[in-house]
Amino acid sequence: MTCNLTVIGLGYVGLPLASEACRAGLTVIGFDISSDVIEGLNAGQSHIDDVTNDDVSTMQDCGFVATGDPADLADGDVFVICVPTPLSDDGAPDLSAVVETSKLVGSVIGPGCLVVLESTTYPGTTAGTVRPLLELGSGLIAGIDFSLAYSPERIDPGNPTYGLRNTPKVVGGLTPACTERAVEFYGDIVETVVPTVGLGEAELAKLLENTYRHVNIALMNELAILCHELEIDLWASIEAARTKPFGFEAFYPGPGVGGHCIPIDPNYLSWVVRSIGYRFRFVELATEISERMPSYLVKRVQDLLNLVCKSVKGSTILLLGVTYKADVRDQRETPALPLATQLCELGAEVFFFDPYVEQFSAGGRSIPSIDDPELFASKCDLAILLQAHQDILNSPFIATYARILDTRGVLKGDNVEWL
Ligand SMILES: NC(=O)c1ccc[n+]([C@@H]2O[C@H](COP(=O)([O-])OP(=O)(O)OC[C@H]3O[C@@H](n4cnc5c(N)ncnc54)[C@H](O)[C@@H]3O)[C@@H](O)[C@H]2O)c1
Repeated sequence: MTCNLTVIGLGYVGLPLASEACRAGLTVIGFDISSDVIEGLNAGQSHIDDVTNDDVSTMQDCGFVATGDPADLADGDVFVICVPTPLSDDGAPDLSAVVETSKLVGSVIGPGCLVVLESTTYPGTTAGTVRPLLELGSGLIAGIDFSLAYSPERIDPGNPTYGLRNTPKVVGGLTPACTERAVEFYGDIVETVVPTVGLGEAELAKLLENTYRHVNIALMNELAILCHELEIDLWASIEAARTKPFGFEAFYPGPGVGGHCIPIDPNYLSWVVRSIGYRFRFVELATEISERMPSYLVKRVQDLLNLVCKSVKGSTILLLGVTYKADVRDQRETPALPLATQLCELGAEVFFFDPYVEQFSAGGRSIPSIDDPELFASKCDLAILLQAHQDILNSPFIATYARILDTRGVLKGDNVEWL
């Protein structure tokens, strides 16, 4: 059955979904509140790493249009909500975009429609927040007049092997019939659909995946600090441990955690756990440990500069890679931010080199970018490798630096010290 799909929120999650749906032969409209996003896409320009301009042009050939006009949504059969779910200033879930979108969708859906929430959120959101707004706006009843489901996005930006199509898609509906309808819809777009017994299970699956990563990365971060004191090479231990063919999955330490998922999603879970009178101590501890990594790095910077009788104040420090992960341009929640802020506050002259980033600001200061890291080497007291972008790892300039603090355990040489 062909259907008219409306994707709401055309970011890292919504745009790849719209792209795959176009490839699958669906008629797709994208709705967003950002005029830059709408104008860019309608001009054939992608703003997302995993969707190329060629992909956008293929989408347009299939009839895709981006719009900010709610009137364009009237003919939709399926509505998939991919809007942001950040944390508010007090650390609580900020569902304002989900609420706004649910009101909008409620005003346009008719009998027989399917509405799916893909935004990451705590269990209970689809039934407790989205459902009443849809019912109020439409005058229809979920599970009877229209179908309602939750399906977490598992996109891994920059992953060359697993994309939307070949990553199994978890889907849970309000009723078994809603699940069936959502499974049928996604079955046209992805290779494998995994139905859950209900909405809450699908909502929790996403938070479980990210909390598992959050806790294990924090474990490695704490071990990195301890191993430095114990003079044990943690990376070598991880390589040894991962030879076990069962029961161990390798996670690695780093300068902290970044991106939209790991630093944020587990807090959605700990927030809902607090609302029922408990504390999710694993999540809170992991957050505390990983948030402390930039401060720990500052201490390591001080120690390294001490060795050559220098203070942080007045030293020239170069940050190599300021995005949140290797080989992507996404800077959200990057640990480079608190690190650069702290180094600037201590009086260091901080610069950055990142082939993916033109502008980087920290603590209200614009951090200058370096065009030629080889020329800069003679001026630099210390370089810190934060992200192992291939373009950085494969560059000969690494050997020209007097001192490099490598937070990824990937560089070799007498000038390199690992985290
Ligand atoms: N980025 C990831 O790797 C990833 C992975 C899995 C899940 N998620 C989750 O998916 C959701 C979306 O994340 P993202 O990374 O795509 O965000 P994003 O910031 O890249 O994109 C969100 C888009 O939604 C638009 N938007 C905001 N409010 C809107 C509204 N009221 N109506 C219409 N459009 C609106 C924004 O302009 C933006 O274009 C979040 O809940 C996130 O946690 C993200």
